[in-house]
Amino acid sequence: MCGIVGYIGNKKASPILINGLLRLEYRGYDSAGIATMENDKIKLMKNKGRVNNLYKLDGIDSLVGTIGIAHTRWATHGKPSKENSHPHVDNSNSFAVVHNGIIENYHELKNFLVEKGYKFVSATDTEVIPNLIHYYFMQDKIDDNKKILRAVKNTCSDLKGSYAIEILSVYNKDKMIVVRKDSPLVIGKGNGENYISSDIPAILSYTKDFYLLDDNEIVELSRNDVKFYNQDLKEIQKAIKSIEWNALSAEKDGYEDFMLKEIYEQPRAIRETIGAKLDNGTIEIEDLDFSKDYLKDINKIYIVACGTAMHAGLASKYTFEKICKIPIEVDIASEFRYRDPLIDEKTLCIYISQSGETADTIAALKLAKTKGAKTLAISNVIGSSITREADYSIYTHAGPEIAVASTKAYTSQVVLLNILAMYFAEKLERVEKDIIKNLKSDILNLPSKIEETLKDTNQIYEFAKKVYKEKDMFFLGRGTDYAVSLEGSLKLKEISYIHSEAYASGELKHGPIALIENGVTVIATMTNKKLLEKSISNVQEVVTRGAKVLAVTSEDIKNDGISEIIKIPKTNPLISPILSVIPMQLFSYYISKEKGLDVDKPRNLAKSVTVE
Ligand code: G6P
Repeated sequence: MCGIVGYIGNKKASPILINGLLRLEYRGYDSAGIATMENDKIKLMKNKGRVNNLYKLDGIDSLVGTIGIAHTRWATHGKPSKENSHPHVDNSNSFAVVHNGIIENYHELKNFLVEKGYKFVSATDTEVIPNLIHYYFMQDKIDDNKKILRAVKNTCSDLKGSYAIEILSVYNKDKMIVVRKDSPLVIGKGNGENYISSDIPAILSYTKDFYLLDDNEIVELSRNDVKFYNQDLKEIQKAIKSIEWNALSAEKDGYEDFMLKEIYEQPRAIRETIGAKLDNGTIEIEDLDFSKDYLKDINKIYIVACGTAMHAGLASKYTFEKICKIPIEVDIASEFRYRDPLIDEKTLCIYISQSGETADTIAALKLAKTKGAKTLAISNVIGSSITREADYSIYTHAGPEIAVASTKAYTSQVVLLNILAMYFAEKLERVEKDIIKNLKSDILNLPSKIEETLKDTNQIYEFAKKVYKEKDMFFLGRGTDYAVSLEGSLKLKEISYIHSEAYASGELKHGPIALIENGVTVIATMTNKKLLEKSISNVQEVVTRGAKVLAVTSEDIKNDGISEIIKIPKTNPLISPILSVIPMQLFSYYISKEKGLDVDKPRNLAKSVTVE
């Protein structure tokens, strides 16, 4: 989704801005642009397509300005085109703006401005912003150094929706203003220079010191200073946060694609997510202090998220139910937020978000807070918006995930959720201690089992080569094998554009079996010994109807017409998705490569969905 970069300092801004945009490419976009301050005038360059198209524009090298803003756009209002790409300027070319988010009332604001004589050249919602700032600036008769700030403040009070905005102005050519509401924005502090971005990795090679903006804060940046204001333009102080990630961890590191690199990073991501949590007699999780009395009274736990993060919730539900004996409901954030869920102060709501910036998940969290529930966020990004909203936050330590299709974030989330369930279970004492003890040791063995799973991938590659031209596939499983099938099916759709469906094996006879015919591909996961016989019967039902079956299993099964058996190490069925998902990730990856697709940046998708 849209990305923002900004620079104010003494160096030429354009290379820094373009470099930042390249690092944001993974978020998904369709056009790119920059604006720099050149001899007291705003110079704008933008183009449809990749950042490379921007880079190729004549004159881009001649930009020498040391202040600039830049943007990659993912179209929401108005098709992808040069006119609709950002930055947008007001009619007098005095204010240039880049914007992430959606201005919901832009029609109304546009009509107001048109009545005042303003003209519009794009179909975007964003174009109202520079014009509205210009309008308020011109209305203001006080000529002091807060005049632009006031114009920005007045503009923001008119805007409904979400925004992260950078503003460049000829009226204040050595400064830049930024503001955010419900859309991420960070300031990177340098020496005699400052950076801005919607996403930490874009500017991580320049600084590790960040200010994380909160909603409705307005920031005025100069080369040597960063001033923060609240909505009433009262100056406020903010602390710097140092980020541990290094810039290298956001590079491909010899791998052909980020996705492949991230698949192979899973053993490390899981080791780091486990950290020292299981080192002592009882589990300790930093920043969590749930008492037995509180846990005992919980009437329900909601796990709410989107996409892969929601699948991580589904895969972990079994553990919570089994060892905590608390009813769990896993919900899609965009559904949860609008369906008036039954929540009270005895409900615990857990929100999972790799980025911590997914608009629907944040809104779902805010809703639960208004109903008095306790909220707990699980994120991969320290200081992300969701963690600043939640009552409690805990982190996966997967490192930056760049590929749009999530891999290491998923497995890290499932691990962390299982550890959280054990942390609750130890306090609740509703199951025998040995159940928890065994699960702990199974979790500690996961990283080396993932390494084993990743050792030989040839079988998966060969099977992918056989089936990559197909149009439909099916994923089957029972229990946690069903939960992981949903994720396998999503991966396939996301990066190979093959239609696929995941079904609980027992549901096969209730409809989907009608679609099984000669040559159809089925991915069947069977890791639970107790359910093995039933699962094998289901596989036979599709084999007899001519399906090509790829079986993912930790058990010794006969091949009985199965095309390929992928053997993975045995583990506790509660955490088997962490192993069984790996062949599925690789399967989708190889199919995508075989089809010659862009694995890391699949069409129409965005890494971080910061609008509804
Ligand atoms: C997008 C991404 C998915 C991700 C989902 C939730 O759809 O393409 O990979 O699972 O958002 O993202 P989050 O950052 O909230 O985990």
